Amino acid sequence: MKLLVCGGAGFIGSTFVRLALADGDEVVVLDKLTYAGRRENLTEVEADPRFRFVHGAIDDRTAVAQAIDGVEAVVNFAAETHVDRSIQEPDAFVHTHALGTYVLLEAARERGIRHLQVSTDEVYGSIAEGSFTEDSPLHPSSPYSATKAGADLLVGAYHETFAADVVICRGSNNYGPRQHPEKLIPLMVLNAIAGDPLPVYGDGLNVRNWLFVEDFAAAIGHVLRHGGAGETYNVGGPDECSNIEVVSAILRLCGRDESLIEYVSDRPGHDRRYSLGSEKVRALGWSARVRFAQGLERTVTWYRENAWWWEPIRSGAYREYYERQYGRRLGP
Ligand code: NAD
Ligand code: TYD
Repeated sequence: MKLLVCGGAGFIGSTFVRLALADGDEVVVLDKLTYAGRRENLTEVEADPRFRFVHGAIDDRTAVAQAIDGVEAVVNFAAETHVDRSIQEPDAFVHTHALGTYVLLEAARERGIRHLQVSTDEVYGSIAEGSFTEDSPLHPSSPYSATKAGADLLVGAYHETFAADVVICRGSNNYGPRQHPEKLIPLMVLNAIAGDPLPVYGDGLNVRNWLFVEDFAAAIGHVLRHGGAGETYNVGGPDECSNIEVVSAILRLCGRDESLIEYVSDRPGHDRRYSLGSEKVRALGWSARVRFAQGLERTVTWYRENAWWWEPIRSGAYREYYERQYGRRLGP
């Protein structure tokens, strides 16, 4: 298939692009290259004649029209993705998720092609026990998850109203190589390597359902081909873990002791626990391959061996973000 991959220069999008090309697809990436989008994430595929990069935003109709020509399906990863930034500055979240998704839906509908919306378990909010199913009500807590939920609702409405060919994939917390250091796992790995304190929010007992990025990318490819029009598929990881367990495991893998842990003020509206039931996508033929212990070790090794990737981020604008968010400077 020839695919338009929006947000393909980000963490999950670039993993999906590598997988799609390896599976024989042709790929056009449309990416705005925000602070989170990086051409470096696509270095391995730049020379492939089946790959094309378009620099532009999903909310820009002209850029979308230029990128979508001849394409057979749209996969939309493009988003602002960090909850803490959505609390500091929600503007871009509303713009990209609402307007951007709308522009893509219109472009796909006009051409009669499939639109796959990449979404998140965070749209359901927090769950104390058990797991969310695709029929659970949406109860988002942050500007990030609320605007992602809004986009999901618009996608659903395009199916109901226009019979548009749409599918939604809601993933749980991803981790793996090339994730921006603002997120829990890479932030803690890089601070542990540098000997900086590891800032744990609240009591550290919030629970996340961890999914290795290659497993999520594979699920998206599978749902794109086999998912039913108008359907939503939850894609949860095989393991749940509290934040403090994750941080302790990272310290062990980095050869550091727990004295680096620093409990800091909690995030406002912090969801206690996420958990996704994945029976529906498993019935379609996908299952997770990577358990958390193994994936975490692979991730730590990747960050240790690829300082060229993260050093420019950690020495650039991220330092100002870090100081604003944590009220302290990163070490040199
Ligand atoms: P990321 O922040 O690494 O990448 C986002 C990409 O989108 C970047 O390349 C950025 O430049 C691009 N982008 C942002 N605004 C854009 C716009 N207006 N037009 C075009 N491109 C734009 O994010 P990620 O972690 O790879 O997440 C990708 C998708 O997966 C998002 O939709 C996110 O909500 C969803 N998701 C993420 C997780 C997770 O744990 N990271 C879990 C479930 C779902
Ligand atoms: P994050 O990676 O931001 O993902 P999300 O909030 O989308 O699940 O955070 C994962 C968990 O880690 C969440 O419970 C918040 C917590 N956390 C910290 O304790 N300290 C930090 O510095 C960060 C970034 C997150």
